[in-house]
Amino acid sequence: MLKIENLEARVDEKEILKGLNLEVKPGEVHAIMGPNGSGKSTLAYLLAGRDGYDVTGGSVDYEGADLLDMEPEERAAAGVFLAFQYPVEIPGVANMYFLRTALNSIRRERGEDEVDAATFLKMVREKAKVVGVKPDLLKRAVNFGFSGGEKKRNEILQMAVLEPKLAILDETDSGLDIDALRTVADGVNQLRSADRAMVVITHYQRLLDYIVPDVVHIMLDGKIIRSGGKELALELEKSGYAAFDGGAVAQAVA
Ligand SMILES: Nc1ncnc2c1ncn2[C@@H]1O[C@H](COP(=O)(O)OP(=O)(O)OP(=O)(O)O)[C@@H](O)[C@H]1O
Ligand SMILES: [Mg+2]
Repeated sequence: MLKIENLEARVDEKEILKGLNLEVKPGEVHAIMGPNGSGKSTLAYLLAGRDGYDVTGGSVDYEGADLLDMEPEERAAAGVFLAFQYPVEIPGVANMYFLRTALNSIRRERGEDEVDAATFLKMVREKAKVVGVKPDLLKRAVNFGFSGGEKKRNEILQMAVLEPKLAILDETDSGLDIDALRTVADGVNQLRSADRAMVVITHYQRLLDYIVPDVVHIMLDGKIIRSGGKELALELEKSGYAAFDGGAVAQAVA
């Protein structure tokens, strides 16, 4: 589904991704862990199509197409979704309206019929319940004045509404209380399916007790330096990043 080969990218002349390889197959859940500044969010943004990244090498194949050649809207229509580490507030735009507009623009791009307001209302209320988003948050402006945890749950609601094929969750667990973590993980688990893949970026092994990944990757200084099963996350929790390619960590942190 997704094959990244030797990806190199710069932001403002600064080299951030330095030959990154990653292959994700349909139905798989991958976790990416790595110290602050290792390039995890950069990778997520780049895949979603945010401007400002200068790809200097490598390739990204998504379902047989060159992802980097696609506009952000085309990527969304093709099923790529990113839940932001820092969800964006949109004052003056009701959350429900935003969600329906997002869904319908994707449907239009795919040549499908739009969903009418009444059908959407019923659908979004059901999904909000599943992911633990309170009904009044649907009427409020997108993320505006939402608590940190409410914003994160709202990202999961967006994912549930848009039903992506490839979902990238950038630290969706940070800022969540224990119950919210459970709710969000349950929401994610319900969306697991044989034709949907997920890439979960996290700093905490705990999330991976709830969302059990097929593969765990350690990212360091713009590259994936180690991949393994879920036990890799436990190993990391015990030993810290210094145990992995020690010299490189010292350099990356310096
Ligand atoms: N627009 C930018 N201009 C300059 N440097 C940038 C820009 N965007 C990202 N960087 C730098 O790229 C590096 C990687 O950032 P990124 O946000 O991808 O890290 P991360 O792995 O997601 O970290 P965290 O765990 O803290 O979220 C950092 O050193 C960051 O300062
Ligand atoms: Mg980040």
